[in-house]
Amino acid sequence: MQYRNFGRTGLKVSELCLGSMQFGWTANEQTTFQVLNAAFDAGINFIDTADIYSRWVEGNPGGVSESLIGNWMKDNHIPRDQVIIATKVRGRMGAGPNDEGLSRAHIFNAVENSLQRLQTDYIDLYQTHAYDATTPIDETLLALNDLVRQGKVRYIGCYNYPGWRLMQALWASERMDIARYDSLQPHYNLVHRDEFERELSDICQTYALGVIPYSPLGGGFLTGKYRQNAQPPDSPRARGASRYFNERNWDLLGKMETLGREKGGFSISQVALSWLLSNPLITSPIIGPRNSEQLEDNIKSLDLHLENEELQVLNDASDWKHST
Ligand SMILES: NC(=O)c1ccc[n+]([C@@H]2O[C@H](COP(=O)([O-])OP(=O)(O)OC[C@H]3O[C@@H](n4cnc5c(N)ncnc54)[C@H](OP(=O)(O)O)[C@@H]3O)[C@@H](O)[C@H]2O)c1
Repeated sequence: MQYRNFGRTGLKVSELCLGSMQFGWTANEQTTFQVLNAAFDAGINFIDTADIYSRWVEGNPGGVSESLIGNWMKDNHIPRDQVIIATKVRGRMGAGPNDEGLSRAHIFNAVENSLQRLQTDYIDLYQTHAYDATTPIDETLLALNDLVRQGKVRYIGCYNYPGWRLMQALWASERMDIARYDSLQPHYNLVHRDEFERELSDICQTYALGVIPYSPLGGGFLTGKYRQNAQPPDSPRARGASRYFNERNWDLLGKMETLGREKGGFSISQVALSWLLSNPLITSPIIGPRNSEQLEDNIKSLDLHLENEELQVLNDASDWKHST
C-alpha cells in the first residue's frame, strides 16, 4: 500500500479509502469487522463514513456505520492515530426542523453525536454531505472553522458540490481567512465521468484539493456481474447499477474484460480501479466492498499498471464529450 498526501496538506492517506455505506446494511457486524480488519492489515488507513448511513434501512435511526467503526476500533485496540476517519454531516437525522442541514445549530449537534458514536474525541476529515441551499455558506464555514479551532475536527471537505458552489466556498474561506475545504468527494468512475471532468477537476487541480471519488465501480456495474440481456444479480445495488445499462457501456465492459485478460488475468473491477488510480489528480478512490472477498479483489487493483495506450482505449470507450 502506498500513501499519498491528502491534497495540499501534509496528511498521508492510503491510496485506497475504505467506504462504509454497506456496514449495517448489506454487511452485518461480523462481516463488517472482517472487512475492517482485512483492510487495516493490508495498510488501508483511511475510512469514509457518514452519520446518515444506513438510515434508509427500516427501523434504523442512522449512525450505525459510525457506531460499528467506533466499536471495531475499541474492541480491537486500534491506535486512534493510525486511522484517518472521514465522516459527513447534512443528512436528516431526526424529525425536527434542525435535524438536518448545514446550519451552525445542526453542525454543532451532529458533530457531538458522530464523536460519541465513533468513540473518539476528534474527526480527521469532516465533510459536508452535499450543499445546503437554505444556509449561507459563511455560516457553514464559520461553524466548521470553530470545530477545527476546538480540535474536534482536523480537516474539512465537501461532497458532490457543483463547480460554482465549490468556488464560492473556497473564496469565502479565503475572504474570511478561515479553514477551507481541503477535499472533494465526487461521483466519478468510468461510466460517470462528465460531472467531475466538466469543471470540478480543473478546480481541484488549481486549488490542490484532495479528490476521493465515491462509487468507483458504479455501484457494482463495473464488475462484470451485470450483463446485457441477462437477469441482474439479486442485490439492493441492482437498481442503481441499472442506470448504466446502455450500448456504450456494454461495449466498454467488453473492452475492460479483454484488457484485464491480456494484462494477466485482472478482473473488470480491477481495471476500473486502476484507471482511477492512474490519474494523478485522484488521491484515493473510496471502495465499497460488502465482504472480504470483494475487498481482496479491489486491493489487487494496486498490482495492475495500465500503459498510456491502454488508458486511451478506456478513455475513448467511455468518452462523454462526443457521445449523444
Ligand atoms: N454510492 C453512493 O451513493 C455514495 C455516496 C457517497 C459516498 N459514498 C461512499 O463511497 C463508498 C463506495 O461507494 P459504492 O458502494 O457506491 O462503491 P462501488 O465500488 O461503486 O460499488 C460497491 C458495490 O460494488 C460491488 N462490488 C465491489 N467489489 C466487487 C467485486 N470484487 N466483485 C463483485 N462485486 C463487487 C458490490 O455490489 P453488491 O453489493 O451488489 O455485491 C458493492 O456493494 C461508500 O461505501 C461510501 O463510503 C457512496
